[in-house]
Amino acid sequence: MWNKLKRWLSGSGQADAPIAIGRENIPEHIAIIMDGNGRWAKRRGLPRVAGHHAGMKAIKRITIAADELGVKVLTLYSFSTENWKRPVDEVEFLMKLPQEFLALEIDELIRKNVQVRMMGWRDNVPAHTLAAVEEAIERTKHNTGLILNFAFNYGSRLELVTAIQTIAEAVRRGELMPQDIQEEHISACLLSADLPDPDMIIRTSGEIRISNFMLWQMAYAELWFTDVYWPDFDETMFRQAVSEYQRRARRYGGI
Ligand code: FPP
Repeated sequence: MWNKLKRWLSGSGQADAPIAIGRENIPEHIAIIMDGNGRWAKRRGLPRVAGHHAGMKAIKRITIAADELGVKVLTLYSFSTENWKRPVDEVEFLMKLPQEFLALEIDELIRKNVQVRMMGWRDNVPAHTLAAVEEAIERTKHNTGLILNFAFNYGSRLELVTAIQTIAEAVRRGELMPQDIQEEHISACLLSADLPDPDMIIRTSGEIRISNFMLWQMAYAELWFTDVYWPDFDETMFRQAVSEYQRRARRYGGI
């Protein structure tokens, strides 16, 4: 506020116009591919993990912004099934971040009525990471506000393969005929089964790809890309994305 006023008084530029966001048509579910942590750090001559640490602060900012806008579900792609290929040190660091984040923020998340969830495979996640996440899930399970859904050890193709296996088993047992398989059967077997499909997918860092993220669920999502690295992504940019979403016409294949 003070900076804006100073700029305006000094005549060196207009105060930033507030980003108009209508109360109607807020995306119910926003999913974010948080990318660019490594490059953010490299640009500053810092180790890659410093970028992940800074990325954690962006998670807090955007969770608050999403909650204030009335978004119902915020899914954050935090660790993919492919991220295990990274150097051991980096993986170990990433596995410590959920407990650090939750230790710092759980009280505020509870105050804000946020429900924490994890969407991903639990089997190969270290016990210390899982314990912190499960505790947060347990402590927030009755909260009715924003669902903060961490896609952690998540991969969409594995999710689809698992869904197909479940459906094939039902067919083998004679509970379902192949010709009766509907979209709903597949959606019901995904890790996101009880969540609405994302209305909007945001990816930071200038990469224009989807990286094995919610491939089935994003069928009609609006895609929004920015060159900004995730640690620099802030409330204003988030509001810009939502504002643009509100100006788009979603036709779902109609006219
Ligand atoms: C992609 O950037 C980012 C990740 C793989 C990890 C994202 C994780 C966080 C932001 C913190 C997670 C915290 C919690 C609480 C779950 P990159 O490393 O691929 O960046 P680069 O493309 O510039 O190398």
